[in-house]
Amino acid sequence: MTRKSITLAITGASGVQYGLRLLQCLVQADYHVCVLISPAAQVVIATETDITVSHRPGEAQPQLCELCQCASDQITVYGKENWMAPIASGSNTAEAMVVCPCSSATLSAIAHGTSGDLIERAADVMLKEQRKLILVNREMPLSAIHLDNMSKLAHLGVTIMPACPGFYHKPQTVQELVDFVVARVLDHLHVPHQLVPRWGQAAD
Ligand SMILES: Cc1cc2nc3c(=O)[nH]c(=O)nc-3n(C[C@H](O)[C@H](O)[C@H](O)COP(=O)(O)O)c2cc1C
Repeated sequence: MTRKSITLAITGASGVQYGLRLLQCLVQADYHVCVLISPAAQVVIATETDITVSHRPGEAQPQLCELCQCASDQITVYGKENWMAPIASGSNTAEAMVVCPCSSATLSAIAHGTSGDLIERAADVMLKEQRKLILVNREMPLSAIHLDNMSKLAHLGVTIMPACPGFYHKPQTVQELVDFVVARVLDHLHVPHQLVPRWGQAAD
């Protein structure tokens, strides 16, 4: 049976751990994931983690597969100007796209339909095809420009999910905070998970 496909773009906002954890969870749930990593995200990955992810898609793919302990056909990495990638067209079968984390720059580009690189184009395709698009933005404080862009996208049906973990599950580790946000994204993708107890289900 063919796997369902989801597009995951990691852009240059703080919190690349959210995106990498989401990738792990999606492959664990047996999805095929099309991964896009912006040049700024490469800088943030190097700044915030000890993980090595090459800027060359052909090298990044096995690195991410090793990170996720998954089969080589579960992750495809595309370069920023690979206009031949299936996700550059509405004829592709990816049912959803998540930008996690989503920088204010990419959020603005999506809100304005810029389509200047493959991340922006793939998101534009999701908008025009009226498919699920989730943006996990991370910025504070928010300017009126950010808020206007988010409002515009929300009115177009985009799910804006700021990387704002809750604390009611009494997190003890950074991983639990990351999982809180990733769990909510998985919920919106209808991907089953048991990352964090649900409200009303906590043991104590
Ligand atoms: C370490 C680091 C952290 C950053 N954190 C944020 C952030 O949290 N939110 C944001 O919108 N931009 C952040 N930026 C700035 C973006 O990376 C920058 O605006 C970039 O142009 C985004 O490009 P992209 O959207 O193509 O990834 C950060 C940059 C660096 C190097």
